[in-house]
Formats: sequence, structure tokens, C-alpha cells
Amino acid sequence: MKPVEPTGLQLIRLLADGDCHSGAALARGLRMTRAGVWKALHKAVEDYGLALESIPGQGYRLNAPLELLDPALILGYLSAAGASRLARLQVNDLIDSTNERLMAAAIARAPAGTVCLAERQSAGRGRRGRVWVSPFGANLYLSVLWRYPVGPAGLGGISLAAGVAVATVLQRLGLTDIALKWPNDLLWRRRKLGGLLLEVAGETQGPSHLVVGLGLNLRLDPDQAQGIDQPWVDLREALGQAAPGRNRLAAALIDALLETLERFGQVGLAPFLDEWTRFDLLRDQQVQLQLGERLIVGDYAGIDPDGALRLNTADGLLRAHSGEVSLRLAPPPEAPRSADE
Ligand code: BTN
Repeated sequence: MKPVEPTGLQLIRLLADGDCHSGAALARGLRMTRAGVWKALHKAVEDYGLALESIPGQGYRLNAPLELLDPALILGYLSAAGASRLARLQVNDLIDSTNERLMAAAIARAPAGTVCLAERQSAGRGRRGRVWVSPFGANLYLSVLWRYPVGPAGLGGISLAAGVAVATVLQRLGLTDIALKWPNDLLWRRRKLGGLLLEVAGETQGPSHLVVGLGLNLRLDPDQAQGIDQPWVDLREALGQAAPGRNRLAAALIDALLETLERFGQVGLAPFLDEWTRFDLLRDQQVQLQLGERLIVGDYAGIDPDGALRLNTADGLLRAHSGEVSLRLAPPPEAPRSADE
């Protein structure tokens, strides 16, 4: 049986079109009193972090329309091949983390092709223990579970393949200047548009399961983004009017990620490396690598066939794997001071 939605969420659905709705109409729609609507609505906007306008004598409206996630729409937008790879689609209002849910579901034998989305995450996880800012209804928080016969060590570089899948979807939508920063940052004009967090578990000799989690900024309020410690951007700014709806975009990303995860199992990383190079932000750059306490500066020397990063440093060639490091472009050298400075 389908669980009954909380009243607050039902009210938000009614207001999602961004139009003004009278208290009386909302009360009729949900068979409540107007006072009940007032109370539930104010609690909902606070809980969901939304901004509500009360227009005297007219009613209520959200400060911006929302396209809420709708499983039927997402299924309708999937390609036939995507639909055949998809085993389950879970769309949640609020959960801790879509990655956390799928890692737990994997232990409980959820099949490859299980996909989890959320309107909001209370404990969205970023790389290296960071929090992923996950406000309600505006961005995409999407995780995909896949299973492999090999152990985790056999999946080296899979995060690069997943990044290529996401960047290609965005490029096909008309986004130019999209780049990937090793191992799994999505950038637009050097500002962070999204990121991937891959989590894997399994037996050394196989089998293993992998969860690919994607966070993509579609419409992020500067207030909500205060916790982000680097320049960021959302798709609304990067694509303007051409930005697709959330459900259509979710379907395109699910299609691409399912295809890529299946293909990686058949052919490995090699066929993705050329495409990676096309999106590679670090080409010909000097970079800084934080390896534990050490800060290493070097010239980026591309990616190894197993997905490791290669860096030419003063001490020779260094190879780094994604779990261990944080990477930044080295600051440009200071301009030489002129004689009259
Ligand atoms: C990064 O630090 O750049 C990776 C961020 C990954 C965030 C996504 S949001 C969906 C999925 N669930 C999580 O808890 N994290 C990932």
C-alpha cells in the first residue's frame, strides 16, 4: 500500500506550480480547516527550507515554482534500454543519504539497477568526509547500485567512467565548457556544478557491489550554499532557459549511468579514457596534491589505464589513487614585479 504523504508535503505539491492559492482552496483540496492549512503550511516551509509569500486577501505562493520528482514521469522519460536495466526506482521525500540507503539495500540483496533519488538529504555525503549540501526540491541527489563478479580492486577508474557519463549527458543538453576534475568533480567554468561519490564493498576475489552517488546543483540558493567551501554554480546559471526539468534530467542521467556501469563490467575503463581526456580540466596544468599531511606540487601527466593520476614531481613520477587525495590547480605564478613597483 502506498504510504500517505505528510500534509506539509501535500501542501507543497499544491503550491509547486508557483501560482497563488487561496487558503480556502488549499483547505478544500486537503479537507482541512483554513487554520489547519495556515499552521501546516508554515511548518512545512520551515521544515523544507522554502520561502513562502502570503498575499493579503489572495493566498499563498512559493517564491519560485518547484518541479518535484515524480517516478511515473521519470519512468516515462527513460529509454527502452534504460528501462530494461532499471530494477527498482525509489523516490524519497527526506532521507539521510541516497548512497547510504543503497549501500544498506545492497547488503539486503537489492538487485543491480536499483536507483534511489531524494528531494532532500539530511546527511548527504561528499568526498573525504565532507557534507553535501542537499536542500529540498531544487537539485538532484541520485544513487545507482550495480553488482560485479570481480572484487573492489577490479573496479579501478570506474568513477572516471561515471563522470564521463554525466558530463556527456550535460553536453548533449547544450552545456559547453563542462569539465571533469580528477577523480570525480564536475565543473563549469572552474566552478563546481556537481560531484560523484562512489562507494564499493565486496569480497577481495569478488563479487562486489558499487553505489555511484551523484549530486548535481540545479538551482541552489546562495543562502543554502553558504556551507560550500569552493566556487560553485548551478545548472540554472550555466544553461539558463535551456535547463531541462528535474524529472527529464534525472531520467537521462539514470539512462547514462546504468549503461556505463554495465559497459564498464564488460570492457573496463579503456574505452572511456579518450572521452575522459576530452573533459579533463587538468590537461597541461600544474596541480597541488594533498596526500595526508603532505602537499605535493607537480605537472599533471594524465591518467593510467587503472584510473590512477600521474604527476611529474621534483622527486619523479607519482601515481595517486582517488581515495587518498585532494587535488587543486596550483595558483598561477606571481607576475614579475616591474621596476617602478
Ligand atoms: C563530492 O564530494 O564532490 C561528491 C558529492 C556526492 C553527493 C551525492 S548526492 C547523492 C549521493 N548521496 C550522498 O550522500 N552523496 C551522493
